[in-house]
Amino acid sequence: MNEFVRQLPKVELHLHIEGSLEPELMFELAHRNHIEIPFNSPEEVKQAYQFSNLQSFLDIYYQGANVLVHEQDFFDLTWAYLMRCREDNVVHTEIFFDPQTHTERGIAFETVVNGITRALDKANHELNISSQLIMCFLRHLDEASAFQTLQQAIPFKDKIIAVGLDSSEQGHPPEKFARVFEKAIEEGFLTVAHAGEEGSAQNIWDAIELLKTSRIDHGVRCSDDPHLVETLAQQQVPLTVCPLSNIKLKVFETMEQHNIAELLRAGLCVTINSDDPAYFGGYMNDNFNAVANAHQLSKKELAQFSINAINASFIAPQAKEDLISSVWQYTESH
Ligand code: ADE
Ligand code: ZN
Repeated sequence: MNEFVRQLPKVELHLHIEGSLEPELMFELAHRNHIEIPFNSPEEVKQAYQFSNLQSFLDIYYQGANVLVHEQDFFDLTWAYLMRCREDNVVHTEIFFDPQTHTERGIAFETVVNGITRALDKANHELNISSQLIMCFLRHLDEASAFQTLQQAIPFKDKIIAVGLDSSEQGHPPEKFARVFEKAIEEGFLTVAHAGEEGSAQNIWDAIELLKTSRIDHGVRCSDDPHLVETLAQQQVPLTVCPLSNIKLKVFETMEQHNIAELLRAGLCVTINSDDPAYFGGYMNDNFNAVANAHQLSKKELAQFSINAINASFIAPQAKEDLISSVWQYTESH
């Protein structure tokens, strides 16, 4: 099965670029930019990655991002992730970035966007990996800061397809950002949001209804509300599920207890993604393999995750059809 996963064409829809910062690169950038980090070696960093919930991860994650200063740093970070995409046969990726994590430290918005998009463009030309960029608002910060960030994004509309919402879900429900999202939609951005990761099923309803999201990031808590599960299946609302992340952050105790296979078999448009692979111990293929092994998924079911991700992506219609054909062709011949 691992061999089938390895070459299966895949699309990633839930990846925080700051969460792909491997400890080795963190050390290199800390040295290059003369930034102190509270670790003596990459091994020590890895040892510190023991999380009890989302917040315990976010605290260490925002600290790690401090080593990113120059445009070249954002390029190097993004390029390293794209090399992993090539290894895992990820043919299209839609990546998140958190501008406020950087602008709050005095890094210019354009430094971040230019570094990331330079790597994405290079991968498009040289590796044939296509991509889109999604800007997330940090939900623990206030509405005014989100509005200010939206304003900064307007000159970069051609490079940013959508806005999203991430960080601490508890205590920061979708309604806090309803007006910001309304303005973003007016400006022509698509919308997505993290909801139902640690927070309630109600947050999923509210993300769909108040924020008009094209898809829900995580969404696994939908199982608490059978009517919601039915609606998600009926309307084919995509869920960008991140299996290894959910185990590391104790959303589920074990992969066997994860509800992703149940949701797939109930006909929901669920997808597999890596979230913050440098922190959670695995990129796309690791996530696919972990789910396949725990839930005895067939090749057809694994291929369905890829088909769902293609359908849920912001890829143009004709390119979607071509990719779907390539996934079925691969599945029939392997
Ligand atoms: N930022 C990075 N990873 C996240 C996650 N899993 N949930 C919320 N915010 C995040
Ligand atoms: Zn996420």
